[in-house]
Amino acid sequence: MVLAIVLLLLVLGSIAFYFLSPWHLTPLASNWAAVDTTIQITFVVTGLVFAAVNLFLVYAIVRYRYRRDRRALYEPENKRLEAWLTGLTTVGIAALLAPGLFVWERFIAVPEDAQRVEVVGQQWHWSFRFPGEDGELGRVSTRLISEENPFGMDPEDPRGRDDVLVQSPRVRLPVDQPVQALLRSKDVIHNFQVAQFRAKMDLVPGHVSYVWLTPTRTGEFEILCAELCGIAHFAMRGMVEVVEPAEFEAWLAEQPTWGEMMARPEPDLQAGREHYATCVACHGEQGGGNRQLNAPALGGQDAWYVSRQLQNFRAGIRGQNPDDPYGGQMTAFARQLEDRAAIADLAAYIESLPVADPEPTVSGDPERGRRLYRTCAACHGADGQGHHAFNAPRLAGMSDWYLVRQLEHFKVDVRGAHAEDFYGNQMAHMARMLVDDEAVRDVVAYINTLPRRSGTEVAAAGGRDE
Ligand code: CUA
Repeated sequence: MVLAIVLLLLVLGSIAFYFLSPWHLTPLASNWAAVDTTIQITFVVTGLVFAAVNLFLVYAIVRYRYRRDRRALYEPENKRLEAWLTGLTTVGIAALLAPGLFVWERFIAVPEDAQRVEVVGQQWHWSFRFPGEDGELGRVSTRLISEENPFGMDPEDPRGRDDVLVQSPRVRLPVDQPVQALLRSKDVIHNFQVAQFRAKMDLVPGHVSYVWLTPTRTGEFEILCAELCGIAHFAMRGMVEVVEPAEFEAWLAEQPTWGEMMARPEPDLQAGREHYATCVACHGEQGGGNRQLNAPALGGQDAWYVSRQLQNFRAGIRGQNPDDPYGGQMTAFARQLEDRAAIADLAAYIESLPVADPEPTVSGDPERGRRLYRTCAACHGADGQGHHAFNAPRLAGMSDWYLVRQLEHFKVDVRGAHAEDFYGNQMAHMARMLVDDEAVRDVVAYINTLPRRSGTEVAAAGGRDE
């Protein structure tokens, strides 16, 4: 009897939960209302079956409960009952599957006039490529991917010259226009999902898959990777900003093309050295850093990372938090650099300096730190030498007190919280895995033990294992 009451409450509770629960589908922002309809049909069919089966159980428990003067009757065959059950199950399964097939037919039929965008996934971020004037995307190959060519563009293919490359995980799309997203992965399987669009699809290495949709309202919608793709899967996020078509066109025109990227001059180390004169007072002649002046070691730091931070300081993406006064100081200096070329020259000069070897100032347990560092190693490398592909800067040879301060800042959103600081956002998620001050000190104490080798030395020694 108790069981019958429990089952009855389970059915009533489930139905009440369905209608009263605060968790609903996020408001739709694409043409795929049909997907919502199929989800509703699935809920109704499975809900009815769930209620019917459990209510029958309640009935059977009550009606056929044990009585001393009653015996069960064995009835192995009941043709009529079986025909009914088979028929009802068939109708139920067909009701579950058939609507999905009709939607699928539309889901794979891309409209002729769809705007095409390639979505590139990698551990653990997104980037995008739009065809240029010619409306065609140039050839790509995984073999051609490098620091200068993150999309693996084939320089021989003239169709690729005007391709627009968006390296940040923030992309814009025009409202009320069909879009076909061509999905490409550089490494493992990822899944492109924007909950409000109700369309998702795997990115499979060696293959180009696709989804299409028409965004139906403007706004910002988060891209979440929906396939477990490694240690930082949870941090693989991006943003789709749906805007008016004119705004989209203006934004697209501002983005660099592959042709422009190829034409960028080699950085000028001599010019970089001249720019560095401003930095010497705090960061030191050889980029060794100065604890008293709160200036971290820079020598040997990756040029792409230094460039990005300088650009972030200039754009107010980093250094604007009132709890980060040293970042604020740095903003003023970064704004003195006149343009992108000046930043590139300076960054290349800093990378050319010998890897700094500052005195350790942080004490912790390097053994415990070594275990904690395993998570960091996935991006920053086993030797802390940094990895451009993961947007993870060098850690070996960096000032330990600076690493501690930045980890603390990441944890409390003083750094990495700006909406445009995507890699900072990611690092903030990762930093929170270091639960307390002790964990931070231990991991930094371990980083202090890593060899201070330059990228070229590591490559020559064959020690770069990833
Ligand atoms: Cu990519 Cu999960």
